[in-house]
Formats: sequence, structure tokens, C-alpha cells
Amino acid sequence: MTGLLEQIGKYAAEAFEAAGYDGSYGRVTVSNRPDLCEFQCNGAMAAKKAYGKAPRDIAMDVLPYFEKSGVVKNVKVEGPGFINFDLSDDFLTGFLAEMAADERLGFEASEEPKTMIIDYGGPNVAKPLHIGHLRSAIIGESIKRIARFAGDKVIGDVHLGDWGLQMGLIIASLSESDGDLPYFDENYTGKYPDEPPFTIGDLETIYPAASARSKEDEEFRNKALEATGQLQEGRRGYRALWNQIMKVSIADLKENYRKLNVEFDLWKGESDAQKYIPDMVDKMVADGYAYEDEGALIIDVKEESDAKEVPPCIIRKSDGASLYATTDLATIVERMKLYDPDKILYVVDKRQEMHFRQVFRAARKTGIVKPETELQFLGFGTMNGKDGKPFKTRAGGVMRLETLIRDIDEAMYKKISENQSVKDENIGDTSEIVGLSALKYGDLSNQASKDYIFDIDKFISFEGNTGPYILYTIVRINSILERYASEGGNVQGCGFKAPSGNGEKELMLSCAGFSGAVTAAYEELAPHKLCAYIYALANDFNHFYHETRILSEEDKEKQAGWVALLELVRRILKVSIDMLGFEAPERM
Ligand code: ARG
Repeated sequence: MTGLLEQIGKYAAEAFEAAGYDGSYGRVTVSNRPDLCEFQCNGAMAAKKAYGKAPRDIAMDVLPYFEKSGVVKNVKVEGPGFINFDLSDDFLTGFLAEMAADERLGFEASEEPKTMIIDYGGPNVAKPLHIGHLRSAIIGESIKRIARFAGDKVIGDVHLGDWGLQMGLIIASLSESDGDLPYFDENYTGKYPDEPPFTIGDLETIYPAASARSKEDEEFRNKALEATGQLQEGRRGYRALWNQIMKVSIADLKENYRKLNVEFDLWKGESDAQKYIPDMVDKMVADGYAYEDEGALIIDVKEESDAKEVPPCIIRKSDGASLYATTDLATIVERMKLYDPDKILYVVDKRQEMHFRQVFRAARKTGIVKPETELQFLGFGTMNGKDGKPFKTRAGGVMRLETLIRDIDEAMYKKISENQSVKDENIGDTSEIVGLSALKYGDLSNQASKDYIFDIDKFISFEGNTGPYILYTIVRINSILERYASEGGNVQGCGFKAPSGNGEKELMLSCAGFSGAVTAAYEELAPHKLCAYIYALANDFNHFYHETRILSEEDKEKQAGWVALLELVRRILKVSIDMLGFEAPERM
């Protein structure tokens, strides 16, 4: 079904045509003066020039036809020629009934679904997951779900950082502490053990210690660099050890992402791209795009219109090593080959913007990506503490994701126990569900590119623009509908009725805005638009709820109309939070 504005616009266009004007002037918008009217059409002003007539006269010509359509009421020509109007009750309830009958609540999925790869998450194997990776996971997951709702074929790829120095650091460190393991014996030809020689807990202490040591101990650093090089060249024992590090880390990462309700279709990483590098580089050289400069291999990517200089993209260092950009280019080669996507979207910290500008330009110039495939960078801002500086632990260190989630869950647990609305044995589960909404909504309700302040107290509040407020609204509707059903009512059998008050009409109009909100969130890759929409919807519901005694209403017809409306609000909220990546508890 087409969206609300489009539908009304069609009637407005017909009215313009019936009055002898071009139908294209019948464009309708939500009123910017809600105190005067619900919608407006400013087409008469635009038609002035073409018809050499006063806009007011044009609007007056159109008005009777528009009125006759039956979709509008209180139609007035105001000022120089604005057509202001409200929706008729019949049209509005019909629209809502159509929405309710539709699986996607009236949102029309695209007729030509796109294949899109979303590169998000981007954790670095063997390093603990930290706050910097949290935003990518939260935003990327939501965009993936929104695009899927919109009908696209979306492939989420975690793109692990699994090929860098961190691996060499761990290998170098283990070679000292556990040098007698077969992994370090160059003459060993047998099978390596199945069991990893460390746990995730071990890795979590080995890596930071090795990393700190490499900054002071040059000999150790060289050893780690050498181990990295040997691993990349394929030394058998190191590859086997690398596999063990991957196995242990990935299991831990999966558990962390599961807690966040984040799910990837592909668990590929930088290492998967390596095999494409040699041919890719050879071709770039042969085609004349890559050339040597002071021993390094580079591709010029600057353009005349650049306000800020874009340095060349370096694809091989003078020592022969490939770089982050090389891996990202080779990953594009792989993705084109395996998935032939219409679009690749990168959800990464905005401080990497220049890197992606270089990579995208190099990819276009060298033709590794076909011209129709869009490459897009969605850079997000930093999560700051209340002091406005990047979020840290109390001790001043980088906050680990697990710690952060635990802090939120504990705060939520305290709050819910104080409320005492949940039976004791369920408080733990409920706190986790509500805590996740606090964390995710706190992030997603901000425009992704902006920095934002992480404020636990604000995020876990049941009031205001927060995840728990949205969930609380859903739980409230659930309990009303359950009561209605337990008193013999049939929720699914209720039909929409004309609104009996302003609050109810507002709520109905708010519901009707669903597909418009999803379209904006989808087209602009902007989950915050969906948050703003459900926040307004939840507010409209709560106003209506406070002015209406739903369950004690004597007029059963009227009551059934409210129940139908509540059920629609509930469905919209549930579908929307699913797109944001969290869910509602039974009680809270
Ligand atoms: N692992 C990287 C980091 O921690 C993020 C990866 C982003 N994706 C990409 N294709 N470069 O900074």
C-alpha cells in the first residue's frame, strides 16, 4: 500500500485536474502549523506562474473538488493561497485498517531489492572488544535490519582484524613462556594438538602485556614483527597457532555479540583477503595505476576539486608489507567476486574517513569495483563520558564492553527491583532485556555521525526519550490488551472507529506516519529517525491513555475501536524496536 501523504496527494492531484490545472501541483505535506490544520497543499502558489492567476483564486477553484473527494474535512484556503485541511474520519480509519491488515504495516517494499554488504563490527581478534567497536555493532545491526525490512538482501560481515601485529605479539610471547610446544619447533611435521594451549582469559592477559612490553623492549618488538611476517608467509606452526587463537577468540566474540543481539552472516576477516592481493597488485601495476615512489607502491587518488589534500593510497610499503588499504581493496575484490553486491556499506569510526576515501577512489580508478556498485562510508562519532571526553573506566583505562554491559544490567536490576513489578526470579532476565534497550536506544537515538554522551542514569530512565520508556509503553499496552481478552474481548476482532477526541486522532495520525518514518530511516541510513518516530508515537499513546478510561468504557463499540488502535500501536512499536535490535520483556 502507498504511504499516507502519497495517497492524499493523489486526491489533491485529481482535484487540481478537475479544476483545470496540472495534477503535479497536488503535493501534500504535514502541516507546519498543527494548531491550524493537520495537512496542507501549497500547489496553488507554485501554479501561479504557469497560469498567470492569483494563487488564492486557483486554490478556491480546487477546493470544492478536493472537498468532494471525501478524504478531507475542514478544507480552507488561507493566506495567499495555502490549502489547509484535516483528514476525514472515514479515510483515516480505512487507512489504519489497511495498515493493520498488512504484514509490513503498510510499508511498501522496494520492487527491485538491492544486494547490500554491510561491513560492521570490525573487532580485532585476540584484543578485548572495547567501546570503540560497540557503536559499529549497534548501528550496523540496526541498519541491516531496517534494510531487510525494506526488502533488500543484506549480508552482514564482521570483517575481523585478524592479520595484524597483535597475532605476532601473542606468538612471540608464547614462544617465550611455552617454547616447548610443537608450534615453535620448525622441524615438527606431525599433527598439532586439537586443544588450544590457552583460554580466552589467558589471551586477554597475554595481549595487553605483550603490547605494553613491545613499546619498551625493542628486541621483543622485532621478534613480534618477525613472527607476524612468518605467520603471513605461511610458517606451518604459526598458522596452526593462529588457528587456535582464532578459534578461542571467535567463540568469545560470538558470545559477546549474542548478548548484544547482533548477528553476522559472514565471519570473514582481513586474512581472507590476503590471497587476492598478489594478482590484484600485479594488475594495478600492469594497468599503470600503481607505480613505485621511494620504494613504496602507490596509487594517486587526489582530485582537482579536493578542498583538503587526499594523499596517495599506499598499497605496498618499501619493505614489501601490505597495508590496511591493500587489505580493504582486496576485500572488495573478494566481495565483488563472491556476492556481486549493488552496494557495500562500511560502518566505521569517522576518524577513518580519509582511509575510506582513498580506498574508494583507488577501487573506482582501478576498476576492481564495477561502476554501478555503490561504496559508502557511514562514519560514527565518539562515545564520550559525562566529562565530554572519550569514555573511560573509573580507573582511566579503556572500558571493556563486558564491563559496560554488566554496569547497565546492574543499574537496571536495581531500578526494576525498586519498582517491584517483576517477580523476583525474573528480575535478572528482565534487567538484561531492558538494559540492552537502554544501551542501544541511548546510542541509536543520536545521529550516528555525532559524538554523544554516555549517561547511564539517563539511558535507564523509564521516562523521556529512552529505550526503557518505549518498552514500558509496550508492556503497558500488553497488560491492557490482556485484561481486555481475559474479560472476554477478542482483540483481533476489533475494528477501527472514528476518533472521539483530539488525543485519539493525534495517535491515529501518528500511526499513519509509520511507513514514512521507515522510508526516511532506510534512505538516509538513519536509525535515529526511527527512534524519533517511536518516541513521538509512545508519547501520543501515553497522552491518549491518560485521558481515556479504556477498560471501564460502557460503549463496547467505542471500546473495540480503542482496542484496535492499541493493537496497531503495539505492533508498530514491536516491529520498530526489532529494527533497532532489541526486544520487549513480558513485564517490567
Ligand atoms: N578492525 C578495524 C578497527 O578496529 C575496523 C575494520 C573496519 N572495516 C574495514 N573494512 N576496514 O579499526
